[in-house]
Amino acid sequence: MGEILLVIDAGTTSTRAMLFARDGRCLGSQAADLTQSYPAPGRVEHDAAEIWTKTRDCTAAMVEQAGGADRIAAIGITNQRETVVFWDRTNGEPLAPAIVWQDRRTADTCRRLKDAGEEPGVQARTGLLLDPYFSATKIAWALRDWPQVRAAGDRLAVGTVESWLVWKLTGGAHVTDATNASRTLLMGLGSGQWDDGLLALFNVPRGVLPEIVDSAGEVGRTSAFGGSIPICGLSGDQQAATVGQACLEPGATKATFGTGAFVLTQYGDRVPASRNRLLATVAWQIAGKRAYALEGSVFVAGSLMQWLRDSVGLLDAAGDSEALARSVPDNGGVYLVPALAGLGAPWWQPEARANLTGLSFGATRAHIVRAALEAMAHQAHDLKRAFAADGADWSLLRIDGGMVANDWMAQDLADVLAIPVERRGFIETTALGAAMLAGVGCGMFASLAEAAGMRGAVECFDPAMDEMTRGKRLTGWAEAVRRTLMN
Ligand code: G3P
Repeated sequence: MGEILLVIDAGTTSTRAMLFARDGRCLGSQAADLTQSYPAPGRVEHDAAEIWTKTRDCTAAMVEQAGGADRIAAIGITNQRETVVFWDRTNGEPLAPAIVWQDRRTADTCRRLKDAGEEPGVQARTGLLLDPYFSATKIAWALRDWPQVRAAGDRLAVGTVESWLVWKLTGGAHVTDATNASRTLLMGLGSGQWDDGLLALFNVPRGVLPEIVDSAGEVGRTSAFGGSIPICGLSGDQQAATVGQACLEPGATKATFGTGAFVLTQYGDRVPASRNRLLATVAWQIAGKRAYALEGSVFVAGSLMQWLRDSVGLLDAAGDSEALARSVPDNGGVYLVPALAGLGAPWWQPEARANLTGLSFGATRAHIVRAALEAMAHQAHDLKRAFAADGADWSLLRIDGGMVANDWMAQDLADVLAIPVERRGFIETTALGAAMLAGVGCGMFASLAEAAGMRGAVECFDPAMDEMTRGKRLTGWAEAVRRTLMN
């Protein structure tokens, strides 16, 4: 058996393949950007064929770098969640664009179901809320509005991104893992199975869906790269980061700042029930046993900096934001509520739009960029309050994702949350978590606790902001959010 773990991390803006040694060292990485299509306001689509070909090419490069398929012990796949792919079982070709998690086209359907009083029942069964973010209404929309999807009948296969990649890699295995299935609105959170009542409510035929499997364990083998490599780990990216941060005990909390920001608190084997607009979700499923998490999902984080760079021209490079934020003593009264794709937890307002407040002639580019970075800590603080109200307050936050390389932002998180914030030297925790799951799945490690030895050194940011400054920031933000919700 090989000794290297190969991870596929199929994210929202890029897909990549990475190699990990048993001790957690990252031995190689190859990434490719994904085309983002915005065919109409509020709509976001991906080309499923592009996801596959770019993922395949990155993976092939990593297999070659590793010295061939024989050197790979197992593949672990982690992915952007909720995004749905539609393909033809007879030839494995996509039938339509993938509808991305950020897509709001089903806001009306969600509102109608909410008005009909369906949300409490749906939340009790799935842990989720009625928001276009989740997969079910997107699947129903495609079945209704795309003739080629409707006409495919028995040929139609539907799945989230890991499901699509497993199909392509294995040549026809149709599976999804419980973490991804728990984001569809179609899985019973307690049963780990597709729920007939939910399938009927959302008009999704059971036959198009994959089989729900564990997050660790062999689900098939691929011979796409020369030899035969087992696929032994599957997980939604936020759950993979929870594993990568070794949030293995109830109460342990991580926040990943990628395209969006997602905070998960491990909840053990009890199904969480939020009364404060948080989500309950599967953290992982191993040997049929599920661990759960409470989740706060914020839709816009790193994508805000990309937008400031690419669409507004306020930044030359996203990395310039740190120096700009440091160049001014405070935000100058400027607040930016980044509801570019609606507001997620704890507000759940799909129709809300971004708001920039407090501008005066004294405001500069640096103040606006600083306000954008400050929005990360503010959004996290709104979540912390909701977690606390649900009886799951955080005493320490483990952070990861591309954005947290920014020291200023890491310190601002500690200051505004008023708790210590920990950052690992290696911030690609999502990929590390997928490697840990694949390592357990192929028998390299006996348990996630043993696999946690793959993690490296940690750095701690302690809160240092005085209460007056903090209070002013929180009040200014609350007012900006109030205005956003009113618009
Ligand atoms: O739920 C959406 C999430 O999985 C997207 O993750 O890393 O692409 O921001 P990311």
